Amino acid sequence: MYTLIFNGSPRRAGDTSALIQAFCREIQGQVEQIDAYRSTLSPCVDCRRCAGGGGCVINDGMQEIYEKVEKAQVLVLASPLYFSTLTGPLLSLCSRFQALYMARRNQGSGWEQTKGGLVLLTGGGSTKDPSCAFRTSRIILREMGAGEIRQVASIGTDHLPAGEDEEALGQAVAAAREFNTLFA
Ligand SMILES: Cc1cc2nc3c(=O)[nH]c(=O)nc-3n(C[C@H](O)[C@H](O)[C@H](O)COP(=O)(O)O)c2cc1C
Repeated sequence: MYTLIFNGSPRRAGDTSALIQAFCREIQGQVEQIDAYRSTLSPCVDCRRCAGGGGCVINDGMQEIYEKVEKAQVLVLASPLYFSTLTGPLLSLCSRFQALYMARRNQGSGWEQTKGGLVLLTGGGSTKDPSCAFRTSRIILREMGAGEIRQVASIGTDHLPAGEDEEALGQAVAAAREFNTLFA
């Protein structure tokens, strides 16, 4: 089983990282993490080349990531809430998935949606309802082929850090166990 995690937090040992670690302690197989804040990938510029079947015009490390997305059984989007949605660098990186979406659409096949997907969110507490970010994340994960999508949020980290939020940590572990059963 191969799991690919996209981390949208700038903080190496922050709240989002605590949820990722809980998941990683339990998930089986190979796990790789891509940190949006430490990536030099360009955002999509909507040049429309991929819409015409030509693939992505931007020749950077994203081509390698496309291959990893294709081979992954489990995809994870993890992010703190910034203004109720995913952080800018993570959204910027995800904009490049448009080329994958267009490739599928041009084949007329669509995604098979056979992968597992997981959304891990953290929020200080100004957002009481993380549904906006969950919705955005699910759209992105579906575009990358995830059918079974689970979601976990630790909201209120200003008062209870995600690393001490037993409920959210437990849900991250439960998602890993479920994917182990489904995909290992
Ligand atoms: C620019 C910015 C915007 C934020 N917007 C929200 C928000 O809309 N809702 C919320 O609950 N918390 C918000 N927060 C708080 C973070 O989501 C929270 O501190 C989170 O736990 C940080 O996770 P991290 O340690 O993984 O980076 C914001 C923080 C920053 C820096």
